[in-house]
Amino acid sequence: MAGPLPRNVLPDSAVVDGAGRLSVGGRDLVELADELGTPLFVYDEAHLRARAREAVAAFGDGVAYASKAFLCKAMAALAHEEGMWIDVATGGELAVALAAGVPAGRLVLHGNNKSVAELQAAVDAGIGRLVVDSFDELDRIDAIGPTQPVPAYIRVTPGVEAHTHEYVMTGQVDSKFGFGLASGDAAAAVQRARKSTALDVVGVHAHIGSQIFLLHSFEKEIEALAQFVRDAGVRELCIGGGLGVAYVEGESAPTITEWAETVIGACRAAGVDAKVTAEPGRAIAATAGLTLYRVGTIKEIPGVRTYLSVDGGMSDNPRPVLYGSGYEAFLPRATAADRPRGVSVVGKHCESGDMVVRDAAVPADVAVGDVLCTPVTGAYGHSMASNYNKVPRPAVVFVREGEARVVVRRENHDDLLRLDL
Ligand code: LLP
Repeated sequence: MAGPLPRNVLPDSAVVDGAGRLSVGGRDLVELADELGTPLFVYDEAHLRARAREAVAAFGDGVAYASKAFLCKAMAALAHEEGMWIDVATGGELAVALAAGVPAGRLVLHGNNKSVAELQAAVDAGIGRLVVDSFDELDRIDAIGPTQPVPAYIRVTPGVEAHTHEYVMTGQVDSKFGFGLASGDAAAAVQRARKSTALDVVGVHAHIGSQIFLLHSFEKEIEALAQFVRDAGVRELCIGGGLGVAYVEGESAPTITEWAETVIGACRAAGVDAKVTAEPGRAIAATAGLTLYRVGTIKEIPGVRTYLSVDGGMSDNPRPVLYGSGYEAFLPRATAADRPRGVSVVGKHCESGDMVVRDAAVPADVAVGDVLCTPVTGAYGHSMASNYNKVPRPAVVFVREGEARVVVRRENHDDLLRLDL
């Protein structure tokens, strides 16, 4: 039997009252669901701000929030207000960050296949850092011929296999990203970029993967890169993102501060005196957010399984289907309760794979109409949401000190039709 929900999967401001009801940011979650509807993404604004500030304190100016984890204008503005740069990986993310009022000089543009239009938009805006990913991109940027050299990082694949899911591993030799170190491509790219009047090579960039718990993976990354960075004589080294977070009972992750101390320490020990920076996404946003659903049906198949259907599913959280990711599930009306009942929380989509939590534990008295919560959905949930089955995407609300601020409204049926001609 599963006990009560572990505390480390809840946002910083989560408080369970005497009756077991959970509030976040001073707002009762069941009331919030009644008021704003479900499914609903709820973010603890103070938690987001605290993690952003921690990142800036740990790495210094230059540390960027990886906006792919969760992006809307309010999030971009928040990361900027707290002193982070913002990593954008497409023209779309660039447009949202600019629309939020973030100065282009504090944006970092990524992408293994940036289009001419994306590069042009970044150059025109005055992008802070361009992460060059390929020789073809070097051709494109030369052809654009910026009037001022664009500050650039050369993205290197260090040949390191991070301890994580294969789909989110990026530092290995067999990767679509960046210039290989062992092949000599990375050195050739630095040489070529240095000859180009379009670029000012200020640093080296690498990213080994995502949802990494072992700080040793980052030490291996630095070990692999150190000589190259020293030889290149660059001023900056960005070690990418990737710090993991706890999703389920029994997991625990290093803090951003511990991560920074480890990587900066490893750099100094390896004789790398460049400024060390990073691009955390998940570690900023994941635990700040949670999803509220409403339970619609409970189907018990004796001796087989109990299906508990909620009003969202793979359209608001595709991670279980894509990566087999696990989540906890609980009832915010009974947060401290034991969870003796084994169920599969499923969505409302037309396929059996539409699992939200395959092996969930919930209180015995769970009933149709209950608000059910999956915590740690703040990263790669809303950002990877789709309209599969023409299900409108949920609203996003920031809560703080008793105030609830809807920052992305719920989609409606008009939104589903807005592109049809
Ligand atoms: N920098 C680069 C170049 C990246 O590719 C990524 C993530 C990050 C930073 C941020 O990584 P984080 O700190 O969030 O781990 N959809 C997957 C995760 C994909 C990560 C892609 N790149 C998931 O839901 O687990």
